[in-house]
Amino acid sequence: MNPAANASLVGFESKRSTRDLIRKNILAYLREEARLPNQEITDETPLAQLGIDSLGMASLNFALEKEISKRPNQEIMYELENIKQLAEYLDSLPVVTDSPTPPSVTPVNLGPSIEAQEVSPQVPAPVEDKIAHYERLNGRVRAVKAMGLYFFEPEITEHDGPWVVADGKRMLMLGSYEYLGLLGHPRTKQATHDAVQHFGTGHHGARLLAGTTNLHRQLEAKLAKWMHSQDAIVFSSGYVTNLATISTLVDHNCFIIGDEWNHASIVDGCRLSKAPLLTFKHNDMNSLAERLRQAEGRRTLVVVDAVFSMDGDIVNLPAVIDLCKRHNALLMVDEAHSLGVLGKTGHGIQEHFGVADGDIDVKMGTLSKTLASSGGFVAGREELVTYLRHHARGYIFSGALSTGHTAAAIAALDVIDNEPELVVQLRVNLFYYLKGLLELGFDTGCTVTPIVPIMTRDEATTLDMTRLCREAGLFVVPVVFPAVPSNAPRLRTCISSLHGKPEVDFALEVLAKAGKQTGLIK
Ligand SMILES: Cc1ncc(COP(=O)(O)O)c(C=O)c1O
Repeated sequence: MNPAANASLVGFESKRSTRDLIRKNILAYLREEARLPNQEITDETPLAQLGIDSLGMASLNFALEKEISKRPNQEIMYELENIKQLAEYLDSLPVVTDSPTPPSVTPVNLGPSIEAQEVSPQVPAPVEDKIAHYERLNGRVRAVKAMGLYFFEPEITEHDGPWVVADGKRMLMLGSYEYLGLLGHPRTKQATHDAVQHFGTGHHGARLLAGTTNLHRQLEAKLAKWMHSQDAIVFSSGYVTNLATISTLVDHNCFIIGDEWNHASIVDGCRLSKAPLLTFKHNDMNSLAERLRQAEGRRTLVVVDAVFSMDGDIVNLPAVIDLCKRHNALLMVDEAHSLGVLGKTGHGIQEHFGVADGDIDVKMGTLSKTLASSGGFVAGREELVTYLRHHARGYIFSGALSTGHTAAAIAALDVIDNEPELVVQLRVNLFYYLKGLLELGFDTGCTVTPIVPIMTRDEATTLDMTRLCREAGLFVVPVVFPAVPSNAPRLRTCISSLHGKPEVDFALEVLAKAGKQTGLIK
């Protein structure tokens, strides 16, 4: 055999073995971690279709590093489409000779009395400082802080309508979820004040034991009516609501099918449930239909966001309902960003699309956004709510929602119904703001709601834009990997009914200046 042919054969062999290795590791992950049944995976099967999330990617990355001494970049791995591309990428990487950084052995000060003791062979060798591992993982945060580009957790000390004082600077708030401006509404503030005067600041324990008050009952009855449902149950946070509800409704014998852009709290609820999670392509009904066919024969929960929290687009609810009905799947919709926002009177996605009362089985929502409070809820059929009340661990084993927050949410629901002009004003402001951004040449993705992303090309531009805006008095929020894919960083801006024309004009002026300075727009 001539050397050239031999070389190409060696190249081919090495690629095939890399592919086999990747396939073996993916199958092991799907079987053991994601608990999915055996599936046929070819070199061309799209990785996205397999539903491997960030943790899955991290464990695959780790296994590959261990087995072939290559150190792939996880962000690049996300961009690759299938096993063939992944194998080619791995083959292109140099072999790393150093093993993963060994833990630095820091002697532990065991105190004088230990030194005096006889050293027995069973005494373990000094181990790494228990916290050092975490500090190593803080590397990225420390680096960003050192560059003066850390824009997270700014400290807010004043709040006055759409304006705040953050880190000592007065800014126009363009990153808040209070879509209808109810945080400072006299009725929500008075209701909270009255509840605290009456009940004190906390509660007497978990709801099933001593934590239920007449305010909790009132809020649940009001939410049930508001959401056109038979019953409702409130939890102490929106995140806990998703965790507790999903993990209680399904188990390892079921399937969960979710949109690939679903909120992290939904994904975490799926993981906790131990039911295999099949993701479908974002808002793609053919992809959902295929997943439902795959899940045929097992009890299935389909779960979607009503409004996608990083992009602001709306789920194609009528088509999802139709597919769920055809496949007898339970449907859960997270209305965190649709309450007070969608529908003529702000009652959410059911009103927006005009679908029937029973079409969404599990209507989940948060109290922490439009409703100017904290907490979460599920509204649905009475049987389902009764089941959650007595089986959802995040409800049973957690203290009640505080009465102050309960009262604020009741008042907020009343305000939305009594002041319909707020929802109208929100739409007017959104239209004016979006139009302004598009005229300036910004890319706002696929939004049609008050969550307005401004796509920023790369992480450095995102942080630069944030800095320039904040320096000019505009509070915007940077969103980078892993909250969004590494190739889609953005500023996430949120418009509210409080942003009148002068505020929107100010925001557009600051964004235009920053956009031109960073080269994002011309
Ligand atoms: C879509 C979605 N669901 C659930 C949650 C969690 O809600 P909470 O912040 O009230 O815990 C959020 C929070 O941002 C969200 O955006």
